[in-house]
Amino acid sequence: MRINTEKSKTLINKTKYKVPFGTISITPDAKKIVDEVIRTKWLTRGKYVQAFEEKYAKLFGVKYAVSVSSGTDADCLACATLYDYGAKRNDEVIVPALTFIATGNAVFQAGFKPVFVDVKRETLNIDPDKIERAITKKTRAIMPVHLMGKPADMEKILRIAKKYNLCVIEDAAEAHGAEYKGKKVGSIGDMAAFSLYAAHIVTTIEGGIVITNDKKKAEILRSLRNHGIVGKFEARRIGFSAKMNEIEAAIGLGNIKIFSKILGKRRRNLLYLINKFRKYEEFFIFIKEESHEKIGPHAFSIIVKEDAGFTKDEFVEYFDKNGVDSRNLFYSIPTQCPSYSFLGHKLGDFPEAEFCSDNGTHIGIHQDIELSQLDYVDQVVASFLRSKGIKK
Ligand SMILES: Cc1ncc(COP(=O)(O)O)c(C=O)c1O
Repeated sequence: MRINTEKSKTLINKTKYKVPFGTISITPDAKKIVDEVIRTKWLTRGKYVQAFEEKYAKLFGVKYAVSVSSGTDADCLACATLYDYGAKRNDEVIVPALTFIATGNAVFQAGFKPVFVDVKRETLNIDPDKIERAITKKTRAIMPVHLMGKPADMEKILRIAKKYNLCVIEDAAEAHGAEYKGKKVGSIGDMAAFSLYAAHIVTTIEGGIVITNDKKKAEILRSLRNHGIVGKFEARRIGFSAKMNEIEAAIGLGNIKIFSKILGKRRRNLLYLINKFRKYEEFFIFIKEESHEKIGPHAFSIIVKEDAGFTKDEFVEYFDKNGVDSRNLFYSIPTQCPSYSFLGHKLGDFPEAEFCSDNGTHIGIHQDIELSQLDYVDQVVASFLRSKGIKK
């Protein structure tokens, strides 16, 4: 991760990578607020956190936004609201098998059990046709993840949730600015949890935020982030300590100001790279935008097809040698993460998630990446294929 300012774009060439994975934009007005809050010594939650929440809610077209310390807390606290609606400890929340580990951990941290459902390799998102068979008497919520900023199939998910009276919590950690059938991702379910970690489209360095149109849920969330306290010191529910501070809010306010610029540049990069990759379709499954959606680009996913004639490891090693930074396309949490082995799943239980993980990677397409760098990615892929005796 590299810090860049709006004005200085020169650091890019000083990193090991010609195409770095992540970036963070810090605007001059954010710096001004940081100086002011340090001078006044009002550093804990105050007027800038409140302003950030109000602006965030407006940006996403919802009534309420409750900031917290991380995206994991956002997922966790959104789940913890379920206790106010009759949920009991060890009840179940349905999540996709392929996602960042935080999604599963947050469900446990809230005192529930994550129940995993396989994904579709083409979308990387939860397979809605497999959700109903995972529902039990203990199921309280479905938490779809919009992985890589590509919206999950919300229409089908909402239909199932309605049929079984389940809450829908969108894990929109990676999906700021995404749209699904004309609706902003994050405004579709009962609540949505965003990460504001440094690599994301809106960042506060570390941080998270839950948005909702439901006043009661917003009140519960505000209480949960402060030990379950209501009013002065009435501890009404078991809570957490998960508050945002003024310095983080300052960085976030700066990001909101340039949100459309960041999103626009990421979308330009995404569409450019999708176009470049079309000629490689016989070798890779890569992220694609369908007509009903707009992706809020987090990163560019590439999965090596089964009959490509080379392995993901060979491909990724070539990327690394040539200065293209990449990350594994996460893991099937229940079958490829040792911390979850106690649940008793075995390899093969989530074949699509395992396939994506075994064969997938993702690379940066963030706001500090220029088209010339994406041309370079294209050249590296072409020269990799040539090294394998494939002409493209
Ligand atoms: C899908 C998903 N959920 C949750 C999180 C957790 O966010 P954080 O790292 O801010 O805790 C992340 C992190 O990026 C994520 O990608």
